[in-house]
Amino acid sequence: MSQAIMSQSMATVAYLGAAILFIMSLGGLSNPESSRRGNLFGMLGMALAVLATVLGPRVSASGMAWVVGALVLGGGIGLYAAKVVKMTQMPELVALMHSLVGLAACLVGYASYVDTSVRFQGAEKVIHEVEIYIGILIGAVTFSGSLVAFGKLNGKIGGKPLLLPARHWLNLLALLVVIAYGREFVMAETVADGLVPLIVMTLIALLFGVHMVMAIGGADMPVVVSMLNSYSGWAAAATGFMLGNDLLIVTGALVGSSGAILSYIMCNAMNRNFISVIAGGFGGGAPAKSAGAGAAAEPQGEVVAVSAADTAELLREAKSVVIVPGYGMAVAQAQHTVNDITKTLRDKGVNVRFAIHPVAGRMPGHMNVLLAEAKVPYDIVLEMDEINEDFPDTDVAIVIGANDIVNPAAQDDPTSPIAGMPVLEVWKAKTSIVMKRSMASGYAGVDNPLFYKDNNRMLFGDAKKMLDEVLGALRA
Ligand code: TAP
Repeated sequence: MSQAIMSQSMATVAYLGAAILFIMSLGGLSNPESSRRGNLFGMLGMALAVLATVLGPRVSASGMAWVVGALVLGGGIGLYAAKVVKMTQMPELVALMHSLVGLAACLVGYASYVDTSVRFQGAEKVIHEVEIYIGILIGAVTFSGSLVAFGKLNGKIGGKPLLLPARHWLNLLALLVVIAYGREFVMAETVADGLVPLIVMTLIALLFGVHMVMAIGGADMPVVVSMLNSYSGWAAAATGFMLGNDLLIVTGALVGSSGAILSYIMCNAMNRNFISVIAGGFGGGAPAKSAGAGAAAEPQGEVVAVSAADTAELLREAKSVVIVPGYGMAVAQAQHTVNDITKTLRDKGVNVRFAIHPVAGRMPGHMNVLLAEAKVPYDIVLEMDEINEDFPDTDVAIVIGANDIVNPAAQDDPTSPIAGMPVLEVWKAKTSIVMKRSMASGYAGVDNPLFYKDNNRMLFGDAKKMLDEVLGALRA
């Protein structure tokens, strides 16, 4: 310990600097224009935090090899994942990462409990053990809940909510048992005595995590993603308490609270009550009308298909065009062609704007990131609230690989699993054009009556391929 390169006070100053950088990072990420800077601050903060930890007095010379080995291994896996994981798989990756934070909190909790080199007495012992108990509790819920979310996001687990009979009572019972075992854990005289209630609580927490996320319907997954993000922050903060690491506490609290705020924003966007989402059951009901994600819908009338050339003609003649991007644009990686079409139309004097639904795609800000990558000007990218009233004055609304977020059933059909969710009212434009490959439903597995409206046209095919054809026709 005495040979540490960085003294405790230097490490504390570095931690403070890292915490400030993390706050600046969050500030930067609040706006697409400053988000690159925000990312840079975050990376600098993390580098500083890792350096201060590795070079500080808490890592002994003999432990250094382990730390460096773990850094190389973890960093290598992270680098590999960043290179191979596609943008559309990002939410699954994030869910998996949340589960690792939860697992880390559990492992650190068990390690600090069985570590015989540090023994607390009296009130300090109680506080330390409460930290361990709560840390493992949050960590285990985050771990198993995130794994189920991962399965639901990549389609390995179905989106339909699993609603056990008397599930709220089961949850309440689990909470009471966890509290009772918590008391036993803190009262235990020896580590061996304490391990039994700790293990029982961990198992209950793991089951609770599975049950909690299984009970949430497909349409409410955006809320779950941000909620688990928040949990992973609290799990990290709990780890910070167990290790006596102030930076981990601050960082965990930042992630935990920003995730909680995001969950709240998501709930507002979906017109859901947060408690009801957590209690589960939303977003998968009404099986009579629901087609199942990606399944072909029962025909509800005639659809009118258009060609790329006709689409180009409609766009060329329009004065005002609103583009609604969705998950399919991300799958097709069509954002650059979208930008080229936007430029071409604007050069011809057409007023082109983008309408972004808060849960378009598969993660918060998904569409904004793609459009920013393609260099679409920020000032024509508008949020749902800013543009939804403009559809009646729009000549052409072109929907690129979006489905649930433009589904009028959310407004018209109270039995729909997405009933009450605010949607982009593209059908109010003079003409709406929906680009997708088939009549399949979107993520929520709900049929979409938009396709059968008189003023709607379907441009079938891969979004990138069809947009390339539209661009070619526009430039001809
Ligand atoms: P979706 O409702 O999932 O619809 C996407 C559509 O894109 C599909 O119907 C699909 O139809 C089409 N598509 C797929 N690949 C395509 C391609 N290569 N070319 C053209 N079209 C393609 O997407 P959305 O409207 O963006 O709504 C988002 C949904 O995801 C909501 O239900 C939301 O709750 C959920 N969700 C969102 C998040 C966040 S935080 N944003 C997280 C988890 C879940 P075809 O198969 O016929 O082509």
